[in-house]
Amino acid sequence: MSEPYLRIDGVTVEFPGVRALDGVSFGAKSGEVHALMGENGAGKSTLLKVLSGVNKVTAGALWIDGERHVFANAREALAQGIAIIYQELTLSPNLSVAENLLLGQLPERRGFIDRRQLRERAVKVLHDLGEEGIHPSTKVRDLSIGQQQMIEIGRALLRDARIIAFDEPTSSLSVQEIRHLKRIVARLRDEGRVVLYVTHRMEEVFEMCDAVTVFRDGQHIRTHESLAGLDHDTLVSEMVGREIEDVYGYRSRQVGEPLMRVEGLLGHGVRKPISFEVRRGEVLGLFGLVGAGRSELMRLVCGVEKASEGVVRFAGEERRFDSPHEAIRAGIAMCPEDRKSQGIFPVASVADNLNISCRRFFRRWGVFRNPAREAANATDYIQRLSIKTPGPRTRISTLSGGNQQKVILARWLSEEIELFVMDEPTRGIDVGARRDIYSLLYDLAEQGKSVVVISSDLAEVSSICDRVGVMRDGELIDILPRDEATPERLLGLALPA
Ligand SMILES: Nc1ncnc2c1ncn2[C@@H]1O[C@H](COP(=O)(O)OP(=O)(O)OP(=O)(O)O)[C@@H](O)[C@H]1O
Ligand SMILES: [Mg+2]
Repeated sequence: MSEPYLRIDGVTVEFPGVRALDGVSFGAKSGEVHALMGENGAGKSTLLKVLSGVNKVTAGALWIDGERHVFANAREALAQGIAIIYQELTLSPNLSVAENLLLGQLPERRGFIDRRQLRERAVKVLHDLGEEGIHPSTKVRDLSIGQQQMIEIGRALLRDARIIAFDEPTSSLSVQEIRHLKRIVARLRDEGRVVLYVTHRMEEVFEMCDAVTVFRDGQHIRTHESLAGLDHDTLVSEMVGREIEDVYGYRSRQVGEPLMRVEGLLGHGVRKPISFEVRRGEVLGLFGLVGAGRSELMRLVCGVEKASEGVVRFAGEERRFDSPHEAIRAGIAMCPEDRKSQGIFPVASVADNLNISCRRFFRRWGVFRNPAREAANATDYIQRLSIKTPGPRTRISTLSGGNQQKVILARWLSEEIELFVMDEPTRGIDVGARRDIYSLLYDLAEQGKSVVVISSDLAEVSSICDRVGVMRDGELIDILPRDEATPERLLGLALPA
């Protein structure tokens, strides 16, 4: 058996109050895609930041191709041929594709940037990545997330990185972009690189990875050198440290009167007038491919964007919301999809982020504060959603990605809202925590509230919803009752005819 090209040797990383990694050791070989799995806050991103020289180790070292390294900074990691494609992309939005690709190694001629060479090298690598459609002089801010990710990969290729690590790369990609990424990852492996791949999506592990390492609470639990014979449930129980019978835990309930009726709604992203209703106590799913118009539809309903036609009847009254503020006042809240950029106050504490509920936020944060109530509220939600944080006063930006997400979700739940619209509520959230979130949705529904869940996760929509609406190309194609909403049916309706 070949010696692993990369060996993590007793790595410990400590932050104030948290041991993010605790004596972790394992190896990854060249020519393998090695999955890293574990609950939110288990230490996966921390490990990648050790590899990139961003996080300093308290103990331990890395062995790369038989040599021992302890990186003091990011430059040293680059020099060892390590590239990380982070959860949040790190490109410069106002620079061109070519400049981003070659940043740090811009070709020069007589003291000036050699534009022609810059372009040629960019074109070549774009071609390599099957992205001939991207023009080298396009500004990065005009690219889709998937294309931006390809530029990050292109940078790694241009530096000929031997170790390439991905942190939840598929979490905001469309179905087509995911397919493309999978092909590229397979190619990187075939070229003999070490590919580390952090994901919460079990099917990706079984489909594209050769080995998997599981972390829990900063500790290395197990490395499976091969996936042969490994099953889904074993992996889940290694991750969460207990058996999870049924992640979805569907609870049936009595569904009541219609709470909201949407009639003939038209507007940005909606091509044909849409009508549907949501009942009290109901969990309604909205499925469709990225770009099908699900978020757009609900943005029109919630007053984030103006509808050009149609009406919304809410709690018996005809309403037209001109702003999200008005919708919230009436009792409808939309928890946006892009919580990272739209939702977080990075320098504020977990408790503050949790308590800037929409209503108070619009009245200006800080005016009506009640510290005792806020502290109790924060502690309550930290517990209910198992948010991993040293305490409510910890700065939110130090929490792991998934835990930040839970805080933002909780913020919307802590209002007196009748209808919740949740856009991809479990994106980036681990299996155990998903269960907590689903159970919370059912709690809301049992109180007679209604929930609309926009989701691209087939297994999720078909398992947790009472009915599922399917959108395609700006149209509501059908709404299926739970027993008909099988993954196959849903996908069949969502795909282009
Ligand atoms: N800069 C930091 N300062 C303080 N604590 C930190 C910092 N970075 C990470 N942590 C803590 O280290 C632990 C591990 O976080 P990490 O981001 O590695 O988790 P993760 O496995 O990537 O989770 P997720 O699946 O949610 O992305 C968490 O408890 C987190 O709060
Ligand atoms: Mg992470």
